[in-house]
Amino acid sequence: MNAPIRVAVTGAAGNIGYALLFRLASGGCYGPDQPIRLQLVEIPPGMKALEGVVMELLDGAFPLLHAIDIYDNPTDGFAGANQAFLVGARPRSAGMERADLIKANGPIFVGQGKALNDVAADDIRALVVGNPANTNALIALANAPDLPKDRIHAMTRLDENRAKAQLAVRAGVTPGDVTNMGIWGNHSSTMYPDFVHAKINGKPATEVITDHGWLRGDFIKTVATRGGAIIAARGASSAASAASAAIDHMASWWHGTAAGDWASMSVYSDGSHYGIPAGIVHSVPVTVKDQAISVVQGLAHDDFAKAKLKATADDLLSERVAIEDLLG
Ligand code: NAD
Ligand code: LMR
Repeated sequence: MNAPIRVAVTGAAGNIGYALLFRLASGGCYGPDQPIRLQLVEIPPGMKALEGVVMELLDGAFPLLHAIDIYDNPTDGFAGANQAFLVGARPRSAGMERADLIKANGPIFVGQGKALNDVAADDIRALVVGNPANTNALIALANAPDLPKDRIHAMTRLDENRAKAQLAVRAGVTPGDVTNMGIWGNHSSTMYPDFVHAKINGKPATEVITDHGWLRGDFIKTVATRGGAIIAARGASSAASAASAAIDHMASWWHGTAAGDWASMSVYSDGSHYGIPAGIVHSVPVTVKDQAISVVQGLAHDDFAKAKLKATADDLLSERVAIEDLLG
């Protein structure tokens, strides 16, 4: 059994938090040999509900859950944290785009970036889930100048999982048969789910699914607008699938990616890959080894893909303009 690691979770009394914490406690992210200490962060009005969540976590009697502490601010809540899930933020409601949340949610990530910078453990790795996730991660990074730029990611794993599920249903296989599913760009309706390089049972998805009109059309549209479809149906944004994707992202970062496969992670761009502009947090396919991220190299993009990549990078650049004042 390893020594416990400290895992901070913000928005711990919210909907995603409720689905996430029990998976963390049961070993669903870091494995059966890795105990954790949870450091749960809420805003003051959320603390009472958080006390109830803590009672339930205790009542789970999880052997891997060595401690639970609660905080109403990130400076105390991130102290010594090795891993952080930055979930706490307002969700959108029907009729809103995720970018409409930037004025309400962006400022949260100024203080949280500073706290990660100042009090987290040296090996901190943080995932921003709160929307608009890519630009919030950029804000956190800008306010954490001492952290290497690859330590704060935004989540596009839910989009990857959605894309795998759509391809699996269409091909009559199971999601585990779909690999190499890269999401490029923003966690917004401009994202590009790259079906060209995806594989189904080791074969190019474009050979297994011969209706390329569907791949370019309804497939991309379904994945890119899935969050809105769930809000329309459920009256609330995705929660359990989002928590599951957050576990998947952090598990890939912790354990590494499987040989020959990759994961989609929104990472800081330094301008050196695929013509993606520098200074935005952009989803790319990556491999992970020993907790270090490498962008997958050598993927060819046709004109259709190039246009999609440009549109989603432009989307991120315009989100950045809207929060320039939060970048320090
Ligand atoms: P929720 O409203 O159910 O819960 C959010 C929780 O965060 C609340 O308990 C609230 O009190 C808390 N909170 C707010 N500000 C905080 C702060 N500064 N520090 C700590 N806690 C704070 O919302 P939810 O359904 O859990 O969604 C949370 C966020 O995740 C939303 O922004 C949502 O849009 C986003 N989301 C992202 C993805 C993705 O794929 N990236 C997927 C689903 C949801
Ligand atoms: C999602 O993709 O489900 C989340 O980002 C929530 C949303 O607002 O769509």
